[in-house]
This record gives sequence, structure tokens and C-alpha cells, in this order.
Amino acid sequence: MTISATATENGPGNETGPAPRLTVIGTGYLGATHAICMAVLGYDVLGVDVDPDKIERLASGEVPFFEPGLPELLAKALDSGRLRFTTSFAEAGAFGDVHFICVGTPQQKGSYAADLTYVDAAVTELARHIRGPALVVGKSTVPVGTAARLTELLHKTAPAGADAQLAWNPEFLREGYAVDDTLRPDRLVFGTTSAWAEERLRAAFAPVIAQGTPVVVTDLPTAELVKVAANSFLATKISYINAMAEVCEATGADVTGLATALSYDDRIGGRFLKPGLGFGGGCLPKDIRAFTHRAEELGVGQAVAFLREVDGINQRRRARTVDLVRELAGGALAGRRITALGAAFKPNSDDIRDAPALDVARTLHAAGAVVTVVDPAAVPNARRAYPELTYATDALAAAAGSDVVVLLTEWAQFREIDPHVMGDVVAHRRIVDGRHALDSVQWRTAGWDYRALGRP
Ligand SMILES: NC(=O)c1ccc[n+]([C@@H]2O[C@H](COP(=O)([O-])OP(=O)(O)OC[C@H]3O[C@@H](n4cnc5c(N)ncnc54)[C@H](O)[C@@H]3O)[C@@H](O)[C@H]2O)c1
Repeated sequence: MTISATATENGPGNETGPAPRLTVIGTGYLGATHAICMAVLGYDVLGVDVDPDKIERLASGEVPFFEPGLPELLAKALDSGRLRFTTSFAEAGAFGDVHFICVGTPQQKGSYAADLTYVDAAVTELARHIRGPALVVGKSTVPVGTAARLTELLHKTAPAGADAQLAWNPEFLREGYAVDDTLRPDRLVFGTTSAWAEERLRAAFAPVIAQGTPVVVTDLPTAELVKVAANSFLATKISYINAMAEVCEATGADVTGLATALSYDDRIGGRFLKPGLGFGGGCLPKDIRAFTHRAEELGVGQAVAFLREVDGINQRRRARTVDLVRELAGGALAGRRITALGAAFKPNSDDIRDAPALDVARTLHAAGAVVTVVDPAAVPNARRAYPELTYATDALAAAAGSDVVVLLTEWAQFREIDPHVMGDVVAHRRIVDGRHALDSVQWRTAGWDYRALGRP
């Protein structure tokens, strides 16, 4: 990864004035990445979180989660003196010209709706300390209409009144590629209500825009909708090919051949058309549910009713993967030794929020199987959340004596396993490839009973 010379040598300020000072409220996967990358781009940045432990770790140079390339950039940003961390909103209000809100918006318990308590709390706390002109920029994924409500909250709460403005800048970074996606996003979306807000946002992203990144300037509700519309589309594409996998299973067809043939059609394209265990994580599942819920509130539930089916197809893949393991284990799971390769919701991440892999592993465990979960990065998070499972970091050692191996997260380490070498340690050469990540011919040639969703 390289950063454009203009950005680092000349800094982000320009002829219209010095660069704005930035705060980033909420330093989780999104916020920490944003804060660190903006400091590397030359901005003075203050990261703020309510979790003192997280702030302490970041301030001492430790990234509290797994994200390739980020620890090196944190060290660089701290060395430059441009990045600091605090738990004080008073400090944030006094310091920042542009404040990015990056707190979580998880699914509410017992409802499809998004839980906006963290966003509301962050904006309220910050607003109390905004005494002059400042721009508060929402980055969190929220239901459409939230920005309009927060604008009122901000004007009412901030001593600066209407001089504190609100804008929305939805974030599209992907965990595992978060650094590159932040430094060179494929587009920037600015939802604004004034020319001043647009100018402030342009100043806050000057080095990124200078690289030629397209900027879409729009209103607040459109900016909010872009994010959930994008995630709905991606989820739909994944569930579409997985629906085809279900049909393939009923007909003896092979979904991998089907997907390859479809992918050559430029109008369809091959990305996100990969059949398998489906999507999970802290975004796609909760975002499509919150969108469904919000559309119903707005009286347009029918327009996105298909997203419930998209969710349903996705959930069925998890159950079907368990079925395949059971079939390979001889029809019963009790007492069978299963090696589950993967815990994170996707490779190159330690994020286990709504992880399909752990859902499958827990269901196998609940059915009486003796499950060992292997993951290169997510074991500490998984162990904290599900202490009842057994964990390992070395796939070969974990597979010793195994009755069935099931690949659940397609880490490169797992894709590169030699079927002959693993075949020597397992009790039975049986594998379920939940991610269509392995070469079926190679594994079958090595004597394995190879099964995958949607394939004969
Ligand atoms: N993770 C991603 O890949 C990604 C990508 C795009 C958008 N998003 C969206 O970004 C938002 C954040 O997601 P995340 O994955 O970074 O979540 P996260 O849980 O990793 O981080 C949220 C952080 O906010 C902090 N926080 C909570 N309340 C706070 C408050 N009142 N003041 C200050 N800090 C507070 C938490 O302590 C935590 O550190 C969500 O809306 C998510 O949908 C995430």
C-alpha cells in the first residue's frame, strides 16, 4: 500500500485555509481505522471512546482488534504526534472542527430495529461541548431519518446552536481491507444541508479527493440510504447464488459451475456470487434487518420485503452445513470429533459478530459432537463469547483423530492445507467445504469424502 506523495508531503491543508482538526467518536473497527488513517494523511486527530481500556491500548500503540496493516500505521501516527486518544468529550468539543461519529448501531434485542442509543449518547455528549462553528459527521450506519432527528438534537443541545451543523458520510470499508479502503475508497458520499458543510467535508478529505476519488454530494436521507442500499444489494447477491445452490442440491446440478458460467456475463459479474455458508458479521445481517424494519415504519415495507427472504436463505445455509456434517459423520453427531476450521465471520478479521462459523460450531456442539474450533485470529474473541467450545490455532494438531473436518471461514492458511498431510492425522478422511474454497478434485484424489453445499 502506498499513500500519495502529495498527501504526506504537503499535508492536508490548502489555499482555503489550514486543515480542520478532527475528532473520531467511537474507536472500534471503523473509528480506530478512520482516526489512524486520517492522522497518517496529515490531520491532527483526537480519538474518543467511552471504553477507557480501549483508549489506553490505542494510546500505547496497540490496536485492540485484528486488522492487517493497522498496527504499523498506528505506530506511525503516534510517532508523528498527530494522533491522540481521550475519554473526555470536553476535550473533543474544544479540539475539533469536524467530529466523526463512529459508534456502534447493533440490532436491538427482540426486534429487527437498529439500537441508536450509542449514536444518541455520543451526539448528546459531544454537543454539550460545542461552543463555536463545527461540523458533526455521522459515519455509523443508521436508519434513514436519523440524521434529521440528530440535527434537531444537536441544535438544541450545543451551546453553539445552529452553528453546529450535521452531515452524513456513510462508510464502506471492509474489515480485512480497512486500511486500503479508508486511504483509497472507491467513492465518498457527503450528505449535507449547506455549502459550508460540503466545504468542511472536502477539507477533511482533501488528500483522498486529490487522488481522484469520486465524491457524491447529496442530501441527508439519500446519504443514509446509500449505505443500507449497498449492503442490501450485496446480501441479495450472496443469497441469490445460495438459493441457486438449494435448487442445485435438489437436481444434482453443481452450483460452482453455474456461478462460473453466470460470472462471465458482464451484466451479472462474479463478485459476491460465491456460493457457500453465507454472510455474517457486524454489518450485513443487522443492516438488512434494520432496513426492513425502517421501511415498514415508513409504510414501504413491501418494497424491501424480499430482504426477509434474503435473510432466510442465508440462515438456511447454516442449518444445511450442519446437515452435511451429520450426513458425513454417518447420520449422528453425538460423540463425533469435529474439527471446525474458522471462527471469524470472514478471513483476515477477528470479528465474530453473527459469525456463521461459530453458529455452525455451536449447533454441532449442542448436538453432542466434540468440536474443536481453529482460527488464526479470532480464538480470544470466540473463547470469551462461547467458553463451552474447545479452541486451537493449529489446524493439523486440532485435526488429529477427527471424524469430520468442516471448513467454515476461508483463511488462506486453511485453503493451503495439503490433503495428504491432513489425511495422515484424521481418523476419517471426510471434509465439508462450507466455503467452496478447496480444490475438490485434489481432496477427492487424496482419498477424502468431499462434500460442499450445492454440489453433487
Ligand atoms: N466494522 C465495519 O466493517 C463497518 C463498516 C462500515 C460501517 N460500519 C458501521 O460503523 C459503526 C461502528 O461499527 P464498528 O464495527 O466500528 O463497531 P464497534 O463496536 O467495533 O465500535 C464501536 C465503538 O463505539 C464506542 N462507543 C459506544 N458508545 C459510545 C459513546 N457514547 N461515545 C463514544 N464511543 C462510544 C464503543 O466503545 C466501541 O469502541 C456501525 O454503525 C457499523 O454498522 C462498520
